[in-house]
Amino acid sequence: MSAAPAGRVLVIDDDRAFRFAIRKALRRMGYEVREAADGDEALAELKAPEPPEAALLDLRMKGMDGLEVLRRRGAAPTRIIVLTGHGTVQAAVEAMQLGAFSFLEKPVDAEELEPLLAQAVEESQLVRDATGRDVPPLVGESAAIEQVRTFIRTVGPTPATVMILGETGTGKEVVAHNLHAASPRRDGPFVAMNAACVPRDLFESELFGHKRGAFTGATDDRKGLFREADGGTLFIDELAELPLESQAKLLRALEERKVRPVGEGREHEVDVRVLAATNRDLWERVSAGQFREDLYFRLQVFPIVLPPLRDRKEDLVPLAHHLLARLGAAGTTLADSAVRAFQAYDWPGNVRELLNVLRRAALFAEGRIIDGDLARRMIAASVFGHAGKTSDRHAGMSERPSAPPIPTTASLAEVERLHIERVLASHDGNITRAASALGIDRRTLQRKLRSYGIEGES
Ligand SMILES: Nc1ncnc2c1ncn2[C@@H]1O[C@H](COP(=O)(O)OP(=O)(O)OP(=O)(O)O)[C@@H](O)[C@H]1O
Ligand SMILES: [Mg+2]
Repeated sequence: MSAAPAGRVLVIDDDRAFRFAIRKALRRMGYEVREAADGDEALAELKAPEPPEAALLDLRMKGMDGLEVLRRRGAAPTRIIVLTGHGTVQAAVEAMQLGAFSFLEKPVDAEELEPLLAQAVEESQLVRDATGRDVPPLVGESAAIEQVRTFIRTVGPTPATVMILGETGTGKEVVAHNLHAASPRRDGPFVAMNAACVPRDLFESELFGHKRGAFTGATDDRKGLFREADGGTLFIDELAELPLESQAKLLRALEERKVRPVGEGREHEVDVRVLAATNRDLWERVSAGQFREDLYFRLQVFPIVLPPLRDRKEDLVPLAHHLLARLGAAGTTLADSAVRAFQAYDWPGNVRELLNVLRRAALFAEGRIIDGDLARRMIAASVFGHAGKTSDRHAGMSERPSAPPIPTTASLAEVERLHIERVLASHDGNITRAASALGIDRRTLQRKLRSYGIEGES
């Protein structure tokens, strides 16, 4: 009999040869290996009753890519290590923001992989074994964090809707948990939804539920998050990603305290406190017609802004101690030189980035001391700090900001005008090429341009 496996690892990659090679390596390390050749297979494994403790996920796959897998993984406890290739730094940053455990560059080096996987498996098991819903502590000694604590003490116990604002990784979700814990609803459910992770056409059913057969794929009745949160708190993260149609329905649910599941005639009363968070400039979205002004004001009654970590560097040391303990590396200490290195850095990924830098530093720390040299190396390797820098190496590829969605209130003529403008811009104003891309002849396009008052180059 062989020893019990060290854990279950899912290898998600559309490259068969890679899966084969990595499977061999992982088996040698004692892991039970599962494989997924595409996003759908991966989601099926991640949502299975006994999901793997860890997964290796290739970001670049045909069909559903790795980021989409992360977005759609639901509540899977699996710790996901993303595999990045040349030129995917931006995607790696996004992956970390979507809660990936860590990242490794391809080709994968077994020396780096082995300790990282061990950590991932251990963390996943820790979470599974933890009983109860512990409130994550809000660590920090800065005046800013003290103010956040005062806010939680005063606004927490009220039924008020709260809007939590701040850059990525500043602790918005931590604050949401603490607001719930400070309220009389603390024994009720805390239900979280990440609006960035819900496919566009499923928001309504996700929030308000549906009746079996209400649409293709609705094979069961579903209660919806509002009713699951009845008597408790519903936390809507990445609120800015909520589509306009769902915004209208959310506003209605907030005002009338009733929800109607998709395909059901009956309304259900709900008693839910809503907390929302975003790292976007919501007002800018309102001005652009992408976010409803009435919902904005309804949610904005009690805003709290979490300052970025670079503006409260006195929190670095207490946070580092707390996070090291959380990583199971309580015995690892920071040398003064490491503290100085941390203080000299501006932490674009905030506390989440600190957590990830510490996670890697703890792996490499000799004698359980993180010194300045190691700290600087880990900071230099942090993907968050490289975001944006690499894009100029791929000029033209991802630099052009994606066009904002067209509001559903736009008239058809307006939509046509916007579309023509975009297509024209993407062909540098060349009318002949734009016309061919639009599937119309040159003269027709010229006529339309004149009628819309748009300029192009012949
Ligand atoms: N003040 C804090 N004390 C302890 N842990 C913190 C604190 N702030 C953030 N963290 C930890 O940092 C990580 C990121 O925090 P969180 O998920 O709350 O960020 P966020 O603001 O919701 O980010 P995003 O906008 O990307 O969703 C989490 O692991 C969280 O536990
Ligand atoms: Mg969040």
